[in-house]
Amino acid sequence: MKFSKNFLFGAASAAYQIEGAWNQDGKGMSNWDEFSKIPEKTFQNTNGDVAIDHYNRYKEDIALMAEMGLESYRFSISWSRIYPQGHGEINLKGIEFYNNLIDECLKYGIVPFVTLYHWDLPLTLEKEGGWLNKRTSDAFVKYAKTCFECFGDRVKNFITFNETIVFCGHGYLSGTHPPGIVGDIKKYFQAIHNVFYSHARAVIEYKKLNQYGEIGISNVFSPAFPVNNLEDNVFAAKHANEYGTHWFYDPILLGEYPEYVINDLKRSGNLPDWTTEELSTLKTAAPLNDFMGLNYYQPTRVEKIIGNFEKIEATRENSTGSPGNPSFDGVYRSVKMDDKVYTKWDWEISPEGFLQGLNMLKERYGQIKLYITENGLGDEDPIIEGEICDVPRINFIKTHLKAVKEAISNGIHIRGYFAWSVIDLLSWLNGYKKQYGFIYVDHKNNLERKKKMSFYWYKFIIESRGEQL
Ligand code: BG6
Repeated sequence: MKFSKNFLFGAASAAYQIEGAWNQDGKGMSNWDEFSKIPEKTFQNTNGDVAIDHYNRYKEDIALMAEMGLESYRFSISWSRIYPQGHGEINLKGIEFYNNLIDECLKYGIVPFVTLYHWDLPLTLEKEGGWLNKRTSDAFVKYAKTCFECFGDRVKNFITFNETIVFCGHGYLSGTHPPGIVGDIKKYFQAIHNVFYSHARAVIEYKKLNQYGEIGISNVFSPAFPVNNLEDNVFAAKHANEYGTHWFYDPILLGEYPEYVINDLKRSGNLPDWTTEELSTLKTAAPLNDFMGLNYYQPTRVEKIIGNFEKIEATRENSTGSPGNPSFDGVYRSVKMDDKVYTKWDWEISPEGFLQGLNMLKERYGQIKLYITENGLGDEDPIIEGEICDVPRINFIKTHLKAVKEAISNGIHIRGYFAWSVIDLLSWLNGYKKQYGFIYVDHKNNLERKKKMSFYWYKFIIESRGEQL
C-alpha cells in the first residue's frame, strides 16, 4: 500500500529550539529566555540565545527541506516576536519574519503547519501570573487572531498549543520548566483549564474568520498499559489513562472533562476554579475542532503503588521522560521493563504500543481526523568517516510509519506524519547532545548543516509514498 496523495509527509521544529536571535529585531523576552539562564536548570546550562540560528539561516534550511522532498513543515511562532510584551504593541519585524518564512515554504510547495504556542510565553505575561492568570487567555486570543489575520491567507493549518501536559506538568509539578513551581496540584489543573479555555476561544475566533483552513491542538500521546494483568495494575493503567489522556483529549474532542478525574479533584480540593461560561465555551468549540495532533514517542507501562508512596525530589535528570517516577497522586509508578527496548535516554521504542493506543483512541472518540505531529528518535548519532550514519533513526521512523499505515488500513483517519525533528535542535532539558534531525548541525564549525543518512532515506520514502516500508 502507498500512502494516499492527501497524506502529508512532514517534519517539525519549535521556535525556541531553533531560532536563536533571542533579542533581534524587537523580540521581547520569553519565560525561557529567563529560565534557561538559571544555573543547572538545563543540561550543561544550554540556552536558545543562538540555538541553531534558524532566524538568520531559514532560507538555507527551507532549501534543504525542499531538497528532502518535505511536503509540510511544522514550526512554531514565537509569541514574543509578535507581541514583545505579550499584549500591547505589535512588532512588525516579527510579522515580517514569519511572512518571509511562510513565503519561503510556499515557494517550494511546502505546506506550513503552524503551532501558535510551543512553550515560550512572553516574560511579561509569566510575571503577571502566566497560565494561572485568566488575562493570559485574553492575550493569547488576541495574539492568535493576529496570526490568523496576518498569516491565514497562506497558512491553512493551525495548532493552538503543544503538549499542555508537559508545560503544565513541568511548570507546576516538577518545577523543571518555567515558572518552576514544585508540587502544586491545584495550580497544575488550573493552568491546564486556562489553556484549554484559551484553545476553545481561539478555535471559535478562527472559525468566525471563514478562512477555510483547519485548526486543532497537539497533545502528548502516551497510552498507559499495565505491566501485567494483575487487577491492581489494570486499575493503575485505567487511572493513568484518565489523568494522562482523557483529561487532555475529552475537553477538546467532547467539550467536557472526564467525570472520573473531576470526582477525584472534588474530593481532594483540586478542582480548577472555572465558570459556567468557560465550560460552555469548551462545549461550543469541541465540534469546531478540525483535527487532533498526536505527539507519540513512547507508551507508559504502569504498576500500582502498594503501601506508602515515597515522594522523590524532581530533578532535571528524572524529569526527562524516562520511566521510574511515581504519579503525582501516588497511585501508580511508571516502570522500565526487562522485555522492552529503550533508547539511550530510556524511552521505550514501541510501534506496537502506538498502534494499540491508536485503537484505544478510536474506541473512545470514534472517527476523528488525526495528524501525527511529532514522532522520532533522540540519539547520539554515529559519525563514520564524516558521514552521519543515523541508522537507528531510520529504523525507528520506518517501524512507526508502518504502524501508521496499519492504523489507516484499520480505518483510523490519519492525515499526516511529522517526524521530530526536521533538523538537530536544542532539547529543552537535554541540550544539543540528544539529536533528532534529518539534518546535522555542526556546533564546532559555525553551525554548518549536513545531510544525514536519514535525510536521503526519508526523501525516498516520500517519493515512493511509503510503498516499500
Ligand atoms: C516533545 C516536545 O515533548 O518532545 C519537543 O514537543 C521536544 O519540543 C521533544 O523537543 C523531544 O523531547 P526531548 O526531551 O527528548 O528533547
